[in-house]
Amino acid sequence: MSRISFQVNDRKISAPEGMSLLGACLNADIHIPHLCYMEGMTEPPASCRLCFVEIEGRREPVTACTLPVRSDLKVRTDTPAVRRLQRTALRLLLSVHHVDCKHCIANYKCELQRTARFLGIGLKPKHLDHYSKEPEVDDTHPHLIHRPNRCVLCGRCIHICESRHGRAYIAMARRGFDTVLTFYGSTDAIDLPAPDCTACIDVCPVGALESKHGE
Ligand code: SF4
Ligand code: SF4
Ligand code: FES
Repeated sequence: MSRISFQVNDRKISAPEGMSLLGACLNADIHIPHLCYMEGMTEPPASCRLCFVEIEGRREPVTACTLPVRSDLKVRTDTPAVRRLQRTALRLLLSVHHVDCKHCIANYKCELQRTARFLGIGLKPKHLDHYSKEPEVDDTHPHLIHRPNRCVLCGRCIHICESRHGRAYIAMARRGFDTVLTFYGSTDAIDLPAPDCTACIDVCPVGALESKHGE
């Protein structure tokens, strides 16, 4: 596949044709906040709204995960408008997040922590209205525990489940604020991938999924 060169901030970088701008920047060690993108996704859900960048010639910032690279791109990843949008997206995520890092399996490797640090926002911003989902824990799955108030609804677990097993055993249910991950109410272990498949836990950027059988 041929490679394309283009400009990001004050650097010229190159990437294979067809790659997303986000993937290309990450490969070139240019950090753009992101939670819902994973390498290999052909259609990223663009749900976290964190990966905004400015493109010369475009009036509004765009999400880098949905933009394929082109040779005429001139990209800025660090403008005030970009940072404003990213901080707004992060605050929205934090408004529905139960921050309790000390008791969380993702502590110190959590991508939400990293994003907050990168954007200079504390995990418990002042004056932020907070909403919680019920129940706090979904333990209906034979092998997994899910904590909706830690989930950033990025969809990575669904994507990896489908690519590993040919179909996803996890889905999103409901809409808007009520959106939640569901196991289809399935408690029938016979039908499910073996308990030693931890792919969904491994790709979760936060601590929203745990194995019932230990690490
Ligand atoms: S998911 Fe991350 S930010 Fe949330 S409690 Fe766990 S470590 Fe803290
Ligand atoms: S459980 Fe984890 S991987 Fe799945 S949608 Fe929630 S945050 Fe994303
Ligand atoms: S990574 Fe682009 S919107 Fe989430």
